[in-house]
Amino acid sequence: MNLETVIASIRNVPDFPKPGIIFKDITTAMKDAEVLKFISDSLYEEYKDKGITKVVGVESRGFVLGSILAYKLGAGFVLLRKPGKLPADTYKVDYDLEYGSDSLEIHKDSIAENDVVLLHDDLLATGGSANAALELLKKFSHNPVYVSFLIELTFLDGKKRLGAAKEIHSLIQF
Ligand code: PRP
Ligand code: MG
Repeated sequence: MNLETVIASIRNVPDFPKPGIIFKDITTAMKDAEVLKFISDSLYEEYKDKGITKVVGVESRGFVLGSILAYKLGAGFVLLRKPGKLPADTYKVDYDLEYGSDSLEIHKDSIAENDVVLLHDDLLATGGSANAALELLKKFSHNPVYVSFLIELTFLDGKKRLGAAKEIHSLIQF
């Protein structure tokens, strides 16, 4: 197993969810046990010595690898959810998506001031979601946050919106 095989396992779906967009479908990677293991181990290697205490995953595709990473790192897992899903007191941030707009929420009691936080999402496109996630995390701590993606679409330059991040890492770049 290597990165080329992982890349080949990601399905390109043209014109989804609207004309002109080539959708990077990770379901074809996630369903392959060897690919899932390789990706999980690679991300773990990147963060195993950073003292991470909380992994924050972005609904919904960020939940898959985010929770695996939390388990492997011995950290807790925090859910950043789409609006109206979290039952207790939340912070909320609105953001623009590659296609449309949305909001993210986080429970106010989910992160402690001394937590070392790793934010994970499957994909960095325009950076709207990740930037909103960082805005939410700023409400808890003055410490910059590690940010991890499985895939980065470099031609959209989403990284430039993530100035608040400590370190940004993506396993695969397109
Ligand atoms: C997709 C993807 C990232 C985000 C990237 O999620 O999983 O979270 O868009 O785009 P951006 O960098 O332009 O913000 P989506 O909101 O489609 O929802 P899903 O994860 O629930 O499928
Ligand atoms: Mg998503």
